Amino acid sequence: FKGNPKDMPGKSIYFPKNIHDVLEKRYLLKDETGRVVEDPEGMFWRVARAVSMAETFYESDPLEVEREFYHLMSSMEFLPNSPTLMNAGTPMNQLSACFVLPVGDSVTEIFNALKYMALIHKSGGGVGFSFSKLRPCGDVVGSTAGIASGPLSFMRIFDVATDVIKQGGRRRGANMAVLSVHHPDILEFICAKNVPVEGEGSNPLENFNLSVAVDNEFMDKLAFDEDKHDNNLTGNLTKEGSPGSDKSKKKLNGSYYILNPRTNKIVGHLNAKEVFDLIVENAWRTGDPGILFMDEINRMNPTPASGKIEATNPCGEQPLLPYESCNLGSINLAGMVKNGTVNWNKLENTVKTAVHFLDNVLDVTNFPTSLIKTETLKNRKIGLGVMGFAEMLIMLNVPYDSDEAVETAVEVMKFIQDHSKKASEELGRSRGSFPNFKDSLWCKKGFKAMRNATTTTIAPTGTISIIANVTSGIEPLFAVSFIRNVMNGTELLEVNSLFEKTALERGFYTEEIMDAVACKGSIQDVDGIPEDVKRLFVTAHDIKPEWHVKMQAAFQRYVDNAVSKTVNLPHHTTKADVRRIFLMAYKLKCKGITVYRYGSKTEQVWYLKEFK
Ligand code: CDP
Repeated sequence: FKGNPKDMPGKSIYFPKNIHDVLEKRYLLKDETGRVVEDPEGMFWRVARAVSMAETFYESDPLEVEREFYHLMSSMEFLPNSPTLMNAGTPMNQLSACFVLPVGDSVTEIFNALKYMALIHKSGGGVGFSFSKLRPCGDVVGSTAGIASGPLSFMRIFDVATDVIKQGGRRRGANMAVLSVHHPDILEFICAKNVPVEGEGSNPLENFNLSVAVDNEFMDKLAFDEDKHDNNLTGNLTKEGSPGSDKSKKKLNGSYYILNPRTNKIVGHLNAKEVFDLIVENAWRTGDPGILFMDEINRMNPTPASGKIEATNPCGEQPLLPYESCNLGSINLAGMVKNGTVNWNKLENTVKTAVHFLDNVLDVTNFPTSLIKTETLKNRKIGLGVMGFAEMLIMLNVPYDSDEAVETAVEVMKFIQDHSKKASEELGRSRGSFPNFKDSLWCKKGFKAMRNATTTTIAPTGTISIIANVTSGIEPLFAVSFIRNVMNGTELLEVNSLFEKTALERGFYTEEIMDAVACKGSIQDVDGIPEDVKRLFVTAHDIKPEWHVKMQAAFQRYVDNAVSKTVNLPHHTTKADVRRIFLMAYKLKCKGITVYRYGSKTEQVWYLKEFK
């Protein structure tokens, strides 16, 4: 097709009203009066056109590519991250979701980071920060002979600024704060979500996810105490950071060093088991902090010559160097199954076009600052991932909590990884490799060219999975039927369409059964549903927590960046369970781990009818 794509005969895209509402509220362009001025097709054409414009830099035909990209998105086989859908082809034109900013130990550097954060939020992106370089609370301030406020107080300023900016009004600003387990303020950091701050209401630092950066040394010290572990907190961690009043404890091999980042001197020791238990306790109570396994992240860093990675984006799936950004996109796996088997041909073509799309994004995006542009274009990281894995498994007749599902995860992700590398290598040959290629792991591994330092990431797909009408990322079904709290007060009742179809086909669709399902979310205790259907339609809370971690680790094996996975736990989960999950994630070589115990936060995105 040549000519204006607007004239192209195409079928109109149908969205159920609730999904259309999400598009109207967040994605479709509006005029100054707030009136929506484009339809979903118009949105996909706008994005396809803007992203295909990169072709002009490589003397290829943008019109053909535009059409290909339009088909890729409008078929819901692939969707780019929200900022691309929202901003492509607009004056803003900032297309990436993930950023990492360094925070240096000076007022100028801290407030520069704050300024950059505001610019990123304004354009719909999220930011990760490592606060590990900031001198601790109570430390000296040379120029004023004053006392330092420490990372926690500065984080509060970032939090308030995030509230004010609100990502251009279309989504809540998201941040990640990382603090090294060796930092003197680590105990306050671990408890930060659990201790309301005066004047801040009951939800402190609500625009932050928190992650403790641990190293193998810390985890080894922890192993020292493992056999003595009794799953109880000893409760003798003091606010000053002393591991307890019993001095003899400090002599245990389980103690590890605390370092003042300003002087680079060791200023004390803490007991690894006690700190770990405090992390577990707080994660169990509030969902925060999560853990980042920094040695594993850096072991897989594709460009070690450019320095160490210290932080990730807000949801943890994208480790980045200071000032780097990354644009993500996800393949809808529910669309990659035909007659009960994976349609490998279609998946291969989708991967190829998606890599092409994401690489183009790097050329057309309007970076928030010139420094971010420079650093990002040195490595040209992109993050292709998946959504609708739960639906794929159901269509393949494989229960999520089974070895076969884990094997499927490995097989599918390895395929995507291999083909994304092939596509990036081809682009590298025609368009040139990323500038840091010669010093990268890919060059060492024998690749002759590579366009992108990373090609794969498993994003949470929080909103784009709503548009594609599938389960987010690699999560199991959250519930067979549930109410989704989309945006301030908007609620959607959803029944899984595959379940509805199965119920009709197998002849057990009755109002009574569907009502019972809508109330419970899970079908495990609902009478009248065949056992094999119950086995297949397991939900996040039906499955043992271990399966969440096994699945995360399975995907991680063939993902360059990291894997967003919420280990959703039922309310009655114990601290010992959380502890086990964290240790299992480390042993299985995950790059990080977060848990979320049902009902442990005041506002959550999903909830079941009976808890309303
Ligand atoms: O589905 P969508 O593209 O909207 O985003 P996601 O996959 O749920 O999240 C991907 C990344 O977008 C997150 O890790 C954040 O970096 C960023 N994000 C954000 O900045 N603000 C939000 N409210 C949600 C996500």
